[in-house]
Amino acid sequence: MTHARRTGVAAALACALLLSPAVAVPAHAAPAAAAVALPHGTTAVLAGAATSPSAPVPPRDPRNIGVLVNKTHPLSPKSYVPRGLVRVQGHRLRAEPARALKAMMAAARKAGAPLVTVSGYRSYATQKALFARYSRLYGVAYASRISARPGYSEHQTGLTMDVGAAHGGCRLGTCFGNTKAGRWVAANAWRYGYIVRYPRGQEKVTGYSYEPWHLRYVGVKISTAMKKAKIPTLEHYYGQVRRG
Ligand code: DAL
Ligand code: ZN
Repeated sequence: MTHARRTGVAAALACALLLSPAVAVPAHAAPAAAAVALPHGTTAVLAGAATSPSAPVPPRDPRNIGVLVNKTHPLSPKSYVPRGLVRVQGHRLRAEPARALKAMMAAARKAGAPLVTVSGYRSYATQKALFARYSRLYGVAYASRISARPGYSEHQTGLTMDVGAAHGGCRLGTCFGNTKAGRWVAANAWRYGYIVRYPRGQEKVTGYSYEPWHLRYVGVKISTAMKKAKIPTLEHYYGQVRRG
């Protein structure tokens, strides 16, 4: 199966899995291998942490809206549960990103590109169950490219929402990026403090394949700085990897 086809299949499945009730799985410590089990070629970039002296220091406190969470920066603690979650169309977020998302969704609707929420806050246990299901279906190597391990997902921060086009397919599929809604999000999310966290062509930096639907709230200060300076990822913003 080609990667594109496989991604499409995985995405469709992801949708079904995410929309089904959360599987109750007791939380336990993430495997020690999690921080080093990166896709081929990723380790040197992330773990090498080619930090730039002028770059902002990445916050590690998950309550900080600028927190860096990736395969080498787990949540601390890994069992973190954000406070004050609110619902946007049934999917949970912290209050500040929820307000921003509602404003963004209203603007998208006005622009003729209405959005729906697909998956927001996910607990450690839900992420554990998801990663386990992907691993059973596709093997651990491929699962690691599309799903975070428990304690390593931005969804657990309450700062992230997966969105889809209100009309039409491509939900949780890379083709979302080519829909009117996907293009609108890519061009305008920064105005509301959001970034498309896993852009195309940055898998070696972010650790994940292209996810045009995965929006991470970082606040307008960071999203504007990234937009103005054409900084492609949060890892670049924090000087974890050199540009180029
Ligand atoms: N799909 C993203 C990487 C997550 O599982 O958090
Ligand atoms: Zn996501």
